Amino acid sequence: MKITIDGPAGSGKSTVARELSVRLNLPYLETGTAYRAAGYLLLRGKGENFSLSWEDLKSLLTELEIIPMVGETVVKVGGKRLEGELRDERVGKMASLVGTVKEFREYINELFRSVIGERQAVVEGRDAGTNIFPDAELKLFITATPEERARRRYEQLKKLGKTANYDEILTEIIERDKRDMEREIAPLKPAPDAVIIDTTGRSVEEVLSQILELIKEKV
Ligand code: C5P
Repeated sequence: MKITIDGPAGSGKSTVARELSVRLNLPYLETGTAYRAAGYLLLRGKGENFSLSWEDLKSLLTELEIIPMVGETVVKVGGKRLEGELRDERVGKMASLVGTVKEFREYINELFRSVIGERQAVVEGRDAGTNIFPDAELKLFITATPEERARRRYEQLKKLGKTANYDEILTEIIERDKRDMEREIAPLKPAPDAVIIDTTGRSVEEVLSQILELIKEKV
């Protein structure tokens, strides 16, 4: 079956999706990596003088490859794998801007559909269940309170030895949620038939067992 996992940043959806892909031995398509790759290419090609025109973006995408594997999504440009580059904060912001370009979303959604085809897979993002695979057999919407997501992000940054300010992170999360939920194209919202899972105060293991139960009911 195809399983889609959507939700806001910091909800724990990537951790859950990756782990589910490994346990079920299914390819994992992390759609955010394509948005990040496009953001990275735009920054690399145009620096701060970028424009968000589809013409400019399109020419940068010709060498982009997205390869869903068990437990990870490999992204290559011109045959070279991108990894750490995609996790840069500036690239993340750029990814979010790229996501507002309607033609980009249409192009990349087609690419996602063609790399998965008829295969079973775990597909994770913001609109996997609403736009990319609206016929998926199991749709999950994973969320957590803004405070919990800010706390997780704060602890993650501290662990990496970076400076972090909880209040600033919380404000940023609330603003990003608002932008993502209110945007005209592909707003972040659960599909009508999605199961909503709140991960606030719950461990990854608890959430995974709930999902594995849901899968059992479907097969
Ligand atoms: O999931 P991740 O945080 O890596 O995604 C980076 C950005 O790409 C998100 O903030 C979001 O704006 C955008 N995105 C999107 N639709 C998707 C996946 C990501 O708009 N399906």
